[in-house]
Amino acid sequence: MARALARGWGDPVLCTDAGSGRAAALVEELGGEALESNLAVAERADLVVLCHKPVGLDSVAQEISGVVKAVASVLGATPTERLEHAYDGTPVFRMMPNTAVEVRRGLVCYTPGRRTPDPSLEAEVLALFARLGRVVSLDERQIEAATAVMGVGPAYQALLAEAQVDAAVRRGLKPGLAAELVVETMGGTAALLAARDYDTLAVRREVTSPGGSTARGLAALERAGVRAAFHDAIDAVIDGART
Ligand SMILES: NC(=O)c1ccc[n+]([C@@H]2O[C@H](COP(=O)([O-])OP(=O)(O)OC[C@H]3O[C@@H](n4cnc5c(N)ncnc54)[C@H](OP(=O)(O)O)[C@@H]3O)[C@@H](O)[C@H]2O)c1
Repeated sequence: MARALARGWGDPVLCTDAGSGRAAALVEELGGEALESNLAVAERADLVVLCHKPVGLDSVAQEISGVVKAVASVLGATPTERLEHAYDGTPVFRMMPNTAVEVRRGLVCYTPGRRTPDPSLEAEVLALFARLGRVVSLDERQIEAATAVMGVGPAYQALLAEAQVDAAVRRGLKPGLAAELVVETMGGTAALLAARDYDTLAVRREVTSPGGSTARGLAALERAGVRAAFHDAIDAVIDGART
């Protein structure tokens, strides 16, 4: 996620890693500096974007809390209250991006915390993330369900595309052509849905002539349990994050 964000911003970065060398690789690509410690980043940056795993919250906070000027966290399943506790007295912004930020077509969900942030700092942070796509502000009680569709969504869409490509290859299309047709159809459908106020049913009905081929294809997907599969998936994502 750090790499996707940094590529989306396209600016030189100040960054660290836990020893893998990925920070240096990012600097090689975008410019900036891979620093020797999180503390060094905190001392120099106006805003630190936390992109480690949620389990690292307390240990990273121990290194930089009190020094860091402001924190934006993309940590999954980590409520603002936990962030504010770990970074006592520091402005904290909980953001949930998806990997499409890399191409500036991302979604970033923002859940304002209990502390009232400095409005100009909040505006700056939101403007920074708005460079990566659309920022949607929502109540923190909605963040789990939101993450379960938009955070994991790129993987779902890729799987759905892959399944369709495989099916088309089985019926004779070359893989590259099949992938182009499927993915461009996804992109075009997304644009069409957005133009129609996200009315999925209306768009689906328009393509589906009564008794026609689309109706037969949709019925086959329903028989295969496509809706139930997505219900199971959202439960697995949300309930798994709580354990
Ligand atoms: N993947 C997504 O689509 C997505 C979407 C939304 C939110 N998120 C959130 O983003 C976070 C990262 O997920 P990810 O998929 O990008 O995981 P990841 O590929 O494992 O990346 C985690 C990065 O954090 C670095 N790191 C770990 N401990 C560190 C420390 N103490 N100091 C400095 N750097 C440290 C790791 O360094 P090394 O490279 O040295 O291991 C690694 O580069 C998670 O909290 C996740 O919930 C992910």
